[in-house]
Amino acid sequence: MKNTTQINPKQAAGEKAAQLVKNNMVVGLGTGSTTAYAIKELGKRVASGLKILGVPTSYQSAFLATENGIPLTTLDEHPVLDIAIDGADQVANFAAIKGGGAAHTREKIVALSAKKFIVVADESKVAEVLNHPVPLEVLPFARKLVVKQVAKLGGKAVVRMGINKDGPVISDNGNFILDADFGEINDPELLDRELSQCTGIVEHGIFTKGVLRAFAVIIT
Ligand code: A5P
Repeated sequence: MKNTTQINPKQAAGEKAAQLVKNNMVVGLGTGSTTAYAIKELGKRVASGLKILGVPTSYQSAFLATENGIPLTTLDEHPVLDIAIDGADQVANFAAIKGGGAAHTREKIVALSAKKFIVVADESKVAEVLNHPVPLEVLPFARKLVVKQVAKLGGKAVVRMGINKDGPVISDNGNFILDADFGEINDPELLDRELSQCTGIVEHGIFTKGVLRAFAVIIT
């Protein structure tokens, strides 16, 4: 008989990443639906005796970790993490775009604090060239200035609007999220530097080699 069991690729990637976590590790917990599978799997391993501490990148991952019995800590208490696991919106040529869930600022901080950064993604996230709109976390006071600066760089930035919430999405840090469309991004390192220089952008969602120093991608 034919095996008709469907494996959810996000679940497979998330659960595989959770297996890389060892006893006594301090673990960065990313945000999004793929990482959620890793968090749930880690919760099961904690229930069977694994000792870890988690540093969440969002309210979403904090709530989920707590619900699944993973004890939490902070970067103040543990500024160096053993490993961080996180998803991505798009991956190409050792660069990634993140922030589809508006969590990229904390995600970048956590990734940079970790000795090893594991990106979990299903095949649909892999592209030859990055072309996904780049999420920008922006100080509300600087919204129009940021739109102007992005236009100078060749992009079009629009404020992300809430679903089941009127008006703009507000990040976990209390800021606006703008999605900036640059079409094909042939030089992500350059755009990374340019966006980092824009006044009013708290953080952008391009993750290049600087952040992905010691990283592996699990793609299913
Ligand atoms: C959160 O802001 C994002 O960076 C997510 O990690 C990214 O959007 C991937 O999410 P999914 O795993 O839900 O696709």
